[in-house]
Amino acid sequence: MAFLLIKELLSLPADSREVRVRGWVRTKREMKNLVFVAMNDGSCFADIQCTFDRTREDWDGGTETALASLSTGAAAEIGGRLVPSPASGQAAEVAAETLSIIGEAPPETYPLQKKRHSLEFLREIAHLRARTNTFGAVSRVRNRMAFAIHEFFQSRGFQYVHTPIITTQDAEGAGALFQVTTLDLNALASRKGGPVDYVQDFFGKPAFLTVSGQLEAETYAAALSRVYTFGPTFRAENSNTTRHLAEFWMIEPEMAFARLPDNMALAEDFLKSLCIAVLKDCADDLAFFDARIEKGVVKTLRSIAESSFAHITYTDAVKELEKNAAAFAFKPFWGCDLQSEHEKFLTEKIAGGPVIVTDYPREIKAFYMKQNDDGKTVRAMDVLVPRLGEIIGGSEREENQERLERRMTELGMDKAAYAWYLDLRRYGTIPHSGFGLGFERLIQYVTGMANIRDVIPYPRAAGQAEF
Ligand code: 4AD
Ligand code: MG
Repeated sequence: MAFLLIKELLSLPADSREVRVRGWVRTKREMKNLVFVAMNDGSCFADIQCTFDRTREDWDGGTETALASLSTGAAAEIGGRLVPSPASGQAAEVAAETLSIIGEAPPETYPLQKKRHSLEFLREIAHLRARTNTFGAVSRVRNRMAFAIHEFFQSRGFQYVHTPIITTQDAEGAGALFQVTTLDLNALASRKGGPVDYVQDFFGKPAFLTVSGQLEAETYAAALSRVYTFGPTFRAENSNTTRHLAEFWMIEPEMAFARLPDNMALAEDFLKSLCIAVLKDCADDLAFFDARIEKGVVKTLRSIAESSFAHITYTDAVKELEKNAAAFAFKPFWGCDLQSEHEKFLTEKIAGGPVIVTDYPREIKAFYMKQNDDGKTVRAMDVLVPRLGEIIGGSEREENQERLERRMTELGMDKAAYAWYLDLRRYGTIPHSGFGLGFERLIQYVTGMANIRDVIPYPRAAGQAEF
């Protein structure tokens, strides 16, 4: 008989049909005549219970020996019949007839025993943590969200473009770049003085891992009208926080013929549709997060799907913050970069839900943002959500060549290196807008997981690149 996943088995009628379960043992409970083995294969949150009735006459010796040595974490195959379950909380179980151990997990050393482990401990055994309820659920939600992102954009005429991972540009002008080189650093260190000769380097000039695919995405939006990227992004930010990784995934839509209000509407529709998808398709996983990780997370997702996002300008936001200055370690003032405490205050205390902050001071935003006529602010937007603060950052782009060049000059940027980017303004320039959603922040948001290192399989952060 074909081998089915536990998710598929649990959707079948419990009509005593013959089934075969393959997976890993979560628990084994022994009663006088019965042995209960909970099997999980990660295809869904639920385990499938396999019940061995020791009073049966027809056990084969192999099964009995295997049952005695079966332990948590072992891989096994259990054959039997799918029957209605007398236990509460599960419709069906397997009346087990055969058992074979496929891979043992010696209980003396297997680290994932029945007791609950701390998230810190599980981070140290990240190669095994996907076998826990929490990380299985995070993985399934991550998978569903990735698919929902493609569904959302594809159904709206956005085309998926693959922007480069290695680049010679600093897209954000923020300087947190990882350099990519084939030069021998040890040889360089032992030689005397003089600048590095990049002509000898692989690309013939300094190269880096990308901090954003936006600039290249803009070139495709100026040809295909609506595009999006979804790929890995790298930032050598030495910030040891629960919201920053050195390697994270970002989704960046870019739309031609679109202004800031179109961008804001897209961001709101996008987040809502992702909440609806996870509520619909990950109900069991979300129920777990709600019960064990973050009370109320399901209610929050429902309310996001139904409410509309608040809007506030940066200038008005700072006024609100100044009125409450006593609440902050970092005193807010016009011109300051909003700190995470400010962002949380705006979304949790002022808006009571997601809020889009627009028109930031140009000095704290990237060179490419469209300049307002006031000469002080740019057409930027950040979407802030409770618990996390910034989840999305974006803007309308400066499509006027002269203004863009002037800004680049002010910032001391090398215009020659961005000639291709300036060409977009020279040939068939258009108003256009886009934003970036941090994928891991989204997963934190929908699961309620507190630390970003627990929503990506193998987190990379300063001093941390295990596995
Ligand atoms: O606000 P950011 O820096 O915007 C950009 O990179 C633009 N190029 C996006 C665009 O307009 N196309 O980053 C966008 C989002 C942030 O709002 C945050 O969710 C996430 O990326 N992000 C990070 N996530 C995890 N770790 C980090 N170090 C992050 N830095 C940014
Ligand atoms: Mg930002």
